[in-house]
Amino acid sequence: MNLPLDLDPQKIPQHLAIIMDGNGRWANSRGLPRIAGHRQGAKTLKEILRCCKDWGIKALTAYAFSTENWQRPIEEVDFLMLLFERLLRRELAEMHREGVRISFIGDLSALPPSLHTEIANSMAETAKNQEIHFTLAVNYGSRNEITRACYQIAELVEQGKLNAADINENLVEQHLYTANTPAPDLLIRTSGEMRLSNFLLWQMAYTEMYFTDIFWPDFNREALYKALLSYQQRDRRFGKVKPLLSA
Ligand code: FPP
Repeated sequence: MNLPLDLDPQKIPQHLAIIMDGNGRWANSRGLPRIAGHRQGAKTLKEILRCCKDWGIKALTAYAFSTENWQRPIEEVDFLMLLFERLLRRELAEMHREGVRISFIGDLSALPPSLHTEIANSMAETAKNQEIHFTLAVNYGSRNEITRACYQIAELVEQGKLNAADINENLVEQHLYTANTPAPDLLIRTSGEMRLSNFLLWQMAYTEMYFTDIFWPDFNREALYKALLSYQQRDRRFGKVKPLLSA
């Protein structure tokens, strides 16, 4: 499907980040178990990924499971892990055919081994695809990511491979999970919550934010269109002052 006519193709965000919130409330409001919300949320994600690709968004990063989400009831955690694995297995071939490059960010070592294997497979198989870069944050926490980067850099200094004076923003970035990927231009969070919840704190220093009351399972192309319309009306200055137009 083509880009809606009133969206400017020159001002499409290159990288969209999404906090998919409200699965549980969506399910509750229908008298369904929370896991039904996650199942529907996964369908929404597939639809939005396709839409991003159609509309020329080159990267999509979605927050699927945070380092704090382990504290949910064990049945829900188990269900989510199973869902990630099943979806990867089921959707990989189609995503590969459509040119999707899949990445995962987060501490993947703590995931069930079978999921870990599936993740490694999907990343290796799609590594050269170029249509869209689809990143899933799983067992991800931004503070943890930044701490890990500090640790790695400290080790290099300790080993004499690096001088403390050479530490700069570029170097820190190289040690984040997102090394070599441009920062998100736009963040969308659904379900009316207006916070970052430990997601891409470093990377989103200059990201535009868009919040909507829609629960994630109900988020669709129309909702994405509205978010993009809002984004295109923003004046991104990155801390600078816009030069005045001469009369
Ligand atoms: C937030 O809603 C959602 C999650 C923590 C899980 C997100 C997972 C999916 C959308 C499934 C995606 C599938 C793949 C393959 C990544 P919530 O449970 O916090 O909702 P609530 O705030 O209403 O309780």
